[in-house]
Amino acid sequence: MHINLSEMYVDDEIKNTVNNVLDSGRYIKGEQLRSFEEEFSAFCGADYGIGVSSGTSAVLLTMMALGIKEGDEVIVPSHTFIATASPAKFMGATPVYVDIDPMTYTLDPEKLESVITDNTKAIIVVHLYGHPADMDKIMSIASKYDISVIEDACQSHAAEYKGKRTGSLGNMAAFSFFPSKNMTVAGDGGMVLTSDEELATKMSMLRDHGRTDKYLHEMLGLNLRMSELPASIGRVQLKHLPEWTKARRNVAEKYTSLLKGLVETPSEKDWAKHAYYVYTIQTDDRDGLQSHLNKNGISTGIYYPVPVHRQPCMEAGVCSLSETDACVDRILSLPMHPQLSDEEIEYIAEKVQEWVK
Ligand SMILES: Cc1ncc(COP(=O)(O)O)c(C=O)c1O
Repeated sequence: MHINLSEMYVDDEIKNTVNNVLDSGRYIKGEQLRSFEEEFSAFCGADYGIGVSSGTSAVLLTMMALGIKEGDEVIVPSHTFIATASPAKFMGATPVYVDIDPMTYTLDPEKLESVITDNTKAIIVVHLYGHPADMDKIMSIASKYDISVIEDACQSHAAEYKGKRTGSLGNMAAFSFFPSKNMTVAGDGGMVLTSDEELATKMSMLRDHGRTDKYLHEMLGLNLRMSELPASIGRVQLKHLPEWTKARRNVAEKYTSLLKGLVETPSEKDWAKHAYYVYTIQTDDRDGLQSHLNKNGISTGIYYPVPVHRQPCMEAGVCSLSETDACVDRILSLPMHPQLSDEEIEYIAEKVQEWVK
């Protein structure tokens, strides 16, 4: 038996859609992108969507839209993928790290206020693993200091906070459609969502060379656009997202019922609807368990073995992130995708059990 960590869904509708776009002769800035932006933003409950080339481009675009520059500070969790924080650094700003709530792996609002300074320009929260961050608390602190909040929703498609979908909760939100994500465009792709018309207009220009006309460039922009082919695939994938989210939650429920007491299983706050991008457990001998599962044909992942504040390129200086540092050697993500069968889940649980005993 071989079980992949994640799997991408392809069907005839996707193949036909790709063929139709190829036949259309229109490859950028067309109807597919416009429709995908409308459909995805409506799904998440935001007014505007700006399709871009990756989740990293999406985070970068939010930083560009806010005019983040040298001397500015951007608050981020360290327990995340580097692309949450690297765009701020790329713009010349200083990422300021804040610890996570160990139950949800998301930014701990109780620790937020102490790192805010006069230079803080933005807070990026990450709905890590598909569990939303505690947005009400974060938004209320941010509004007290008049700081913009960006949701890094690259792992939280269709996750909900108090009944609202992630992507609609902050001032802007960045999504990734990388192949392992809860929905994908069969390659790299991303989207920024916002309900602020001014920011939407600005980002729409910034991702397209800051142009107001073909060869008139009012702002210094880049080419961060999403093409028609990925947009067309994203539209088909989006139609499946609700049923896939349900399936992921069922897989998680089954895992938890089989693994509780053997390892630490993920938790879900009563105000949250977890989208289970990954199903992450904790155990003392993580490396031993990982190699046992690997020997038995089960792929696993570690998200993430080196926190951002310890990355050589991020020059974080001294920071005390005890919860972040405590979990990195213990976390392990098990295979998670909507097509995972009961038989496969039972096999994985049996192998975990075998190792723990
Ligand atoms: C939390 C987080 N932020 C940002 C990104 C960057 O997205 P992409 O890989 O599409 O550039 C990812 C995706 O891997 C992610 O998981």
